[in-house]
Amino acid sequence: MNIQHNISLKNYNTFGIDVSARDFVAVSNTNELLQVLQQNKKDLFILGGGSNMLLTKNIEDALVVHIHLKGKTVIDENDDYVWIQANAGENWHEFILWCIDNGYGGLENMSLIPGNIGTAPIQNIGAYGKELKDNFIECEAVEIATGTTKIFNKKECEFGYRNSVFKKELKGQYIITAVTFKLTKKNHALNTGYGAIENELADKNITNPSIKEISNAVIAIRQSKLPDPKILGNSGSFFKNPVISQTEFEQFITTFPEAPSYRVSDNEVKVPAGWLIEQAGFKGKQFGDAGVHKNQALVLVNYGNASGKEIWALAMKIKTAVFEQFGIEINPEVNVY
Ligand code: EPU
Repeated sequence: MNIQHNISLKNYNTFGIDVSARDFVAVSNTNELLQVLQQNKKDLFILGGGSNMLLTKNIEDALVVHIHLKGKTVIDENDDYVWIQANAGENWHEFILWCIDNGYGGLENMSLIPGNIGTAPIQNIGAYGKELKDNFIECEAVEIATGTTKIFNKKECEFGYRNSVFKKELKGQYIITAVTFKLTKKNHALNTGYGAIENELADKNITNPSIKEISNAVIAIRQSKLPDPKILGNSGSFFKNPVISQTEFEQFITTFPEAPSYRVSDNEVKVPAGWLIEQAGFKGKQFGDAGVHKNQALVLVNYGNASGKEIWALAMKIKTAVFEQFGIEINPEVNVY
């Protein structure tokens, strides 16, 4: 086990925040991971693709473990479906491109989401009408306290909107090492119902899209609205879209009839946080090196040398302003350390 000291994490988090890890180890296979779990006496800070976190301070009291488990295997297939196990350290988008190149459908709507395979189930990532859970079969995870491996099926993962058991009861207790997906080899269940995809395909005169064309449409939409973390540090949507009760919604929509909304259930409605933040006047605003993206108000950005504390201060300012104006509470989607 090769522990390195005083390592900058700037290149390990997509916000590009320059904090350091006093102790850092990268693990490339499960044996190395188990060795770390056996020998280490400190708390652990698990670092995957670093795409859904805001680091506000140096990590001094925990061992940072970078999950670098690579590889993917077709574990079963028939004429219609393929079951693929991908290891936690595989990049999410590269994995999707590989699936598409091989003719495997199901994940194309989630193209270009930053991050790695192993962190995707934790918040049940999703975009353009699809969520990870739609193609998820099971994941393999190692219990930090005991080093034992456990398989979690879909039900045990308790997936919800940007949520799972790994964010609730089992938070911080397991490290996901691999995920198994079931994908289609033919008769792909295409999901083009999401408005932006329909428009993008229509613009290109595509009436009978392939999985590759859907992926390309999603890539084009994302690139037009969402900043590329390699160019402008960010962590995707910073806040979750708030879900409010029918009673709250009725009051809200009477005051703001132009607001977009999505029904979640008979008694719950989701309101886009991006709209609330834009209405509160923050879209495109910059405070020092911390800012709100000009094309999508839900995304906070680092214009260069913002500290995690500055981004966090901006987030709290936005949260307060949105609450004062709309009486709706918005909460971070990213993990804040
Ligand atoms: N809107 C505004 N102003 C903005 C941004 C959005 O008025 O600055 C309005 C839009 O016009 C639209 C509505 O808000 O009516 C929803 O916007 P959009 O379709 O862009 O999606 P979102 O709700 O802001 C969610 C996910 C994204 C995902 C997109 C597309 C969450 C927290 N975010 O964003 O996920 O890519 O839908 O499916 O659910 C992420 O999780 O990191 C992420 C990027």
